[in-house]
Amino acid sequence: MSELRSHIRGVGGYLPQHVLTNQDLAAMVETSDDWIRERTGIRERHIAEEGELTSDIAVEASRLALERAGIAPGEVDLIVLATTTPDQTFPATATAVQAKLATGEGAAFDVQAVCSGFLFALATADSMLRQGLFRTALVIGAETFSRIIDWSDRTTCVLFGDGGGAVVMQAEAGAPGAGGGVIAHHVRTDGTKSGLLYVDGGVSSTRTIGHVRMQGNKVFKHAVANISSAVQAILDDNGLGPDDIDWFVPHQANQRILDGVAKKLAIDEDRVISTVAEHGNTSAASIPLALNAAIEDHRVRPGQLILSEAMGGGFSWGASLFRI
Ligand code: ACO
Repeated sequence: MSELRSHIRGVGGYLPQHVLTNQDLAAMVETSDDWIRERTGIRERHIAEEGELTSDIAVEASRLALERAGIAPGEVDLIVLATTTPDQTFPATATAVQAKLATGEGAAFDVQAVCSGFLFALATADSMLRQGLFRTALVIGAETFSRIIDWSDRTTCVLFGDGGGAVVMQAEAGAPGAGGGVIAHHVRTDGTKSGLLYVDGGVSSTRTIGHVRMQGNKVFKHAVANISSAVQAILDDNGLGPDDIDWFVPHQANQRILDGVAKKLAIDEDRVISTVAEHGNTSAASIPLALNAAIEDHRVRPGQLILSEAMGGGFSWGASLFRI
């Protein structure tokens, strides 16, 4: 008897053209290139143009992923889009992507788990493909995070950027337990910590969009602890050690978080993909954007074992294991 397994067929990414540097920010708030680089590793970030929507960014990334997969939009029957910055309160931004790409008959919906959203979307799409509910999925992380930033708050405005990444996944029958494709997920949330990282507005509470608020140093400590526990759990569950992983493709929040996790778990830093300097924190988009960058520069190659991890508002956090 064979079992269904999700396989990644193509990866794409898109960054808005406009680049906002640390020097640009130093002209807007009391900060400096030195402070931002030393505390975060970030040098610059991309910012969406006025009128450029999350769905537009998602569509660009998806087109590239589909083209690389050699799969026509009409074959896609599932779109799961992770975002914290939807085009509208409803309908789901994934449905705008469905319309703009003219994908096939199927389902499209959004997932909201902030910076961990891509891992939650990947786990959701993988489950649906394995059940045989759909055959070809687009899993997207896309954000216009700049729209919920308070540009006068130096403690948050230096951290974030806009962008999008997408993977195309297809269900394929294979022998039970056979390696390859999407292997495992570990996702968690802790609602008691929501006050440390949140947006101070919302449809039901204030009827406004609100801005990101964060107690950065507290978030930092939880991020290293939660990410490390998720990575350790997924390694243990699958009988693996850090040396079995070809590449770690983490959520790109802060270089110090990446380094802290690598140190805690004795992960070789040379096998950690970092795009934080050029992208900043693009929330749900950061993992597929980093994966895309590492495929484009030929570090990540077909057949390699990838471990992704993330932590974000909620708190939400997790890890995923897959072969590319
Ligand atoms: N420029 C200059 N000074 C600043 C800036 C800035 N942009 N921001 C804060 N400061 C000042 C503070 O006001 C403070 O000054 P004080 O000592 O006079 O009070 C001083 O720098 C130190 O502030 P801390 O918040 O303690 O600095 P820290 O070393 O913790 O760095 C940072 C702040 C970069 C936000 C860090 O805590 C961090 O990265 N936390 C993780 C948060 C994160 O990445 N969140 C994203 C979402 S969650 C996720 O993706 C994992």
